[in-house]
Amino acid sequence: MRKNYLLTPGPTPLPPQVLEAMSRPIIHHRTPQFQGEIKKATEGLKYIFQTKNDVFILASSGTGAMEAAVINLLSAGDTALVVQGGKFGERWTELCKAYGIAAEVIDVEWGKAVDPKEIEKRLKTNPKIKAVFTTLCETSTGVTNDIRGIGEVVKNTEAVLVVDAISGLGAIEIKTDEWSCDMVISGSQKGLMLPPGLGFISVSQKAFKLIEASKSPRYYFDLRKSKKALDKTDTPFTPAITLIIALNEALEMMKQDGLENTFARHKKMAEATRSAVKALDLELFAPSAASDAVTAAKVPQGIDGEKLVKTMRDTYGITIAGGQDEMKGKLIRIAHMGFIEEFDIITGISCLEKVLYQMGHKFNLGAGVKAAEEVFLKN
Ligand SMILES: Cc1ncc(COP(=O)(O)O)c(C=O)c1O
Repeated sequence: MRKNYLLTPGPTPLPPQVLEAMSRPIIHHRTPQFQGEIKKATEGLKYIFQTKNDVFILASSGTGAMEAAVINLLSAGDTALVVQGGKFGERWTELCKAYGIAAEVIDVEWGKAVDPKEIEKRLKTNPKIKAVFTTLCETSTGVTNDIRGIGEVVKNTEAVLVVDAISGLGAIEIKTDEWSCDMVISGSQKGLMLPPGLGFISVSQKAFKLIEASKSPRYYFDLRKSKKALDKTDTPFTPAITLIIALNEALEMMKQDGLENTFARHKKMAEATRSAVKALDLELFAPSAASDAVTAAKVPQGIDGEKLVKTMRDTYGITIAGGQDEMKGKLIRIAHMGFIEEFDIITGISCLEKVLYQMGHKFNLGAGVKAAEEVFLKN
């Protein structure tokens, strides 16, 4: 017998209410019953996105919603500013390239957040920039960017601000309207505690003007179709019915907890995790902009990072993530996002300690769990 724990930055564990909703008999989507579900889901999403803008639900993973943003806002030959600094920032550049959009890149060092002043400078020197593509939580490095600060500099320009909040929404604060975010994008399998399969996208009036003007070819991800359907409480194509019904359960849980408490819980989990890894003599990868959704720490010298993650998973049933791309084998990433509470963290840290100890890393056994417990006790 083995018990498995999922501490990865997507997918994240599923609450029983979500599992139960997904086991209900399917219903048809062109019915008043399903219209009720769409209405509830869009209202719930607006609460989580902190917006009055339309929020569209797509049957795709988060990347589909990113692609929808690029093609609906811009046409071949347009210029966009992209904030890189990790694998997912780079995805914006790749998407732009795929559609012939010129991507001007701010190449932020991995593990650091972008300085909004750099965005301001680029927007001033290149007035052709129509959109700024950013990431709330760069999952590959464990960095949270200052979206509020970025919104301040973009809002007074012609450009629209697009935020990939795929990992972050529901875990870290993002005030779509107050921070002047024109498009916020998310996915189901992270802070929203669902399986993968839904993409979300909020659209401001400023963004809608670009959507009307874009000449990019689009069909499935044509947000004009989404808007027309949503105005009739409908979807343009067959929606992911079961996932949307489950989404309503997750949104209800979040509403009952309240956004402030949800963010405070994530903050506490993140503080405990950071404190624990430091107590194990591991160095945080993003100390100056550490995310409350996922903690990235450097694998110590002499330890095989890939083997560490594999042993935790295959021997003890605890799945954390390793590094991606240039950080492969050099990082561990422990997610504390969604349906995670303090004893999940304690279990994960305890396993990390055990495997690090077995692999010869020197520290006081129990130091990580002690450090995490101390954070939980003072909160
Ligand atoms: C910040 C960020 N952006 C984009 C993605 C891609 O989302 P998906 O895998 O749902 O397409 C992820 C997934 O890990 C992510 O964390």
